[in-house]
Amino acid sequence: MGPLSAPPCTLHITWKELLLTASFLIFWNPPTTAQVMIEAQPTKVSEGKDVLLPVRNLPQKVAAYIWYKGQIMDFHQFITAYTIDTERIIFGPAFSGRETLYSNGSLLIRNVTKNDTGSYTVKIRNPAEETKGVIVHFTLYHGPQVPRIFSPFNYYRSGNTLELSCFANSNPPAEYSWTINGKFLQSGQKLSIPQITTKHSGLYGCSARNSATDSERSTFKRITVV
Ligand SMILES: *[C@@H]1O[C@H](CO)[C@@H](O)[C@H](O)[C@H]1NC(C)=O
Ligand SMILES: *[C@@H]1O[C@H](CO)[C@@H](O)[C@H](O)[C@H]1NC(C)=O
Ligand SMILES: *[C@@H]1O[C@H](CO)[C@@H](O)[C@H](O)[C@H]1NC(C)=O
Repeated sequence: MGPLSAPPCTLHITWKELLLTASFLIFWNPPTTAQVMIEAQPTKVSEGKDVLLPVRNLPQKVAAYIWYKGQIMDFHQFITAYTIDTERIIFGPAFSGRETLYSNGSLLIRNVTKNDTGSYTVKIRNPAEETKGVIVHFTLYHGPQVPRIFSPFNYYRSGNTLELSCFANSNPPAEYSWTINGKFLQSGQKLSIPQITTKHSGLYGCSARNSATDSERSTFKRITVV
């Protein structure tokens, strides 16, 4: 099954249509068949990659799929919907332009951002009843952002202890390493050098590396020992 590419329809009218469809439903009972399940593929994804939310245990004779961001199924959370018999795709306020709804109900999210994490709900409508599936979370690997070096001072007296620490927003947490004037010094988030002399003056660099996203960012700070 290929991606469906109907042009966006007039939102106002089509949402009304959906509500209208809903009002004709006789049963609002919980599913009588196997629980509809969505499991993100992959469950851990790097920022900028794609994630597929496939729907399993579909009931027979599906009339429509309606996807929501989060677990509250209201209009503001409405991403996109597909009605089988009319083959229409409808886009809602929560549609980012990066979602593709397949005719088997699966939702593909391209180029995921931090905002895409969280739960998703798919409402599956068939002539007799309505069922829903909820996905709780997929993990987004992101970062590192440009690290920041924290230091109590820019100037140190010789004989004192130089204390620097570094932090970069990253998931999983970054691995840190330190350089002075471009030469590797040590790894670890904190740098502590006791009994410093003027020779310890220089440009200190901190590199933050995230092995899951395979990226690395650095920052520098000049420290002077007087
Ligand atoms: C639905 O279709 C998409 C696109 O063809 C496919 O990648 C996905 O595996 C299908 N999902 C299921 C549950 O079969
Ligand atoms: C992914 O999103 C980022 C920021 O939202 C954007 O700069 C980039 O061009 C996008 N990449 C693709 C392949 O769409
Ligand atoms: C993420 O969501 C916030 C708040 O809703 C918004 O301000 C921001 O622009 C969004 N970022 C992206 C990359 O979509």
